[in-house]
Amino acid sequence: LGIFIHWGIYSVDGVDESWSFYNKKIPHAEYMRQLDGFTAKNYDPAAWADLIEKSGARYAVITTKHHDGVAMYDTHLPRVPLDTTIQLRGHSERTYHYVDGLKVPLSAANATSARRDLIVPFFSALRAHGVKCGAYYSLIDWSYFDYPAFTKDSTRYVIKDDPARWQRFRKFYQGQINEIATQLKPDLWWFDGDWEHSAEEWEAAKVRAMILAKDPKAIINGRLQGFGDYATPEQNIPIETPKAPAWELCMTLGEQWGWQPQDTNYKNTHDLIAILADVIGHGGNLLLGIGPKEDGTFTPGQVSRLEDLGKWTSKHAEAIYGTHAGLPNGHFFGPSTLSADSTTLYLFLANGMSGSVAIKGLDNKILSAEVMGHAGQLAHRVVGKISWSKVPGLMFIDVPEEAADDWMTVVKVKLDGPVRLYRGQGGF
Ligand code: GLC
Repeated sequence: LGIFIHWGIYSVDGVDESWSFYNKKIPHAEYMRQLDGFTAKNYDPAAWADLIEKSGARYAVITTKHHDGVAMYDTHLPRVPLDTTIQLRGHSERTYHYVDGLKVPLSAANATSARRDLIVPFFSALRAHGVKCGAYYSLIDWSYFDYPAFTKDSTRYVIKDDPARWQRFRKFYQGQINEIATQLKPDLWWFDGDWEHSAEEWEAAKVRAMILAKDPKAIINGRLQGFGDYATPEQNIPIETPKAPAWELCMTLGEQWGWQPQDTNYKNTHDLIAILADVIGHGGNLLLGIGPKEDGTFTPGQVSRLEDLGKWTSKHAEAIYGTHAGLPNGHFFGPSTLSADSTTLYLFLANGMSGSVAIKGLDNKILSAEVMGHAGQLAHRVVGKISWSKVPGLMFIDVPEEAADDWMTVVKVKLDGPVRLYRGQGGF
């Protein structure tokens, strides 16, 4: 479990992160006026880290820069100044250039009312809580003068017509990656926006090599045009396990990544747990997205969901952390996980499921079965085993109603050895 945080100037007016100007819902200048309203005045990184740790997440990923180009960490790379100049409220001592670039680095520290780096203190707090740190970084930078795309129906130039210009942008973005590697030292790099260019155009192989040269243990998500480590399905729950060495489902708590006032229809705790169980049962991670307000506070609903998750994840820690994908689809009506040595099976029972729970095709003996967090052994029996056939019978485990968890009951089953499954079509 990881927590995904989208925090940026878009939380001032509560508009779509970056996409609002790209899709022309509002003009770029209006979007950028949010720089001024972004205060981070109640930001408490230690409290964030505490809440994240409590939820049971073992890592957090935060936007160090979204497609709008506004860095939340302290970038020192200047933007290319252009002719459009406006005076931002509260910053009379300086003149900012925007639309196509700022004179000063476009960052929370230099261009917003927060006037400080927001990521370093967060990563330190996470590390103090033993939570791994992920840096979301958008390769796309729609506000940058030398970036080819601007809004959905206007481009600045075509790369093949002006390779030198593209090279200037590439130098800039790779410079930011170097800064992030040095200043933030992320355990995980969460790239986004690779779809706008090819691996060659991004120099994805070089970027991967740069990162691994600084930290050979760094993990890179799959949005680097084939040069990442794992797949990142977004919002959509896979039925079949994605064919990648590893995968992570990123999904919002409400409907939006960033904070928006109307976005209050949060997934309920039961549903979140059901999704988490399904994801880990198929060998994935869940990266759950929340967006704080511009002042750095979370809504009560965001806080209570994370706290609820924490109650369930702490009770069932053994079934979650360090486990791998459980029984393939078809053996059990619900998700399951297996211990690292595959000798303990954890069955996640859909809401309220109790009575006789069946496992099909299990070719092991059960040494013991229990409901996690509930004392006592569960009775189990094999039904339909034919003495002369190699096909295992149906294994039924009796789960008493009173053992049920408020959200999702988990049955821990100790096997007589690593799990063995019959996967055939019956017959004899
Ligand atoms: C998308 C969007 C973006 C969001 C991201 C999270 O690719 O461009 O706004 O940050 O998904 O996965």
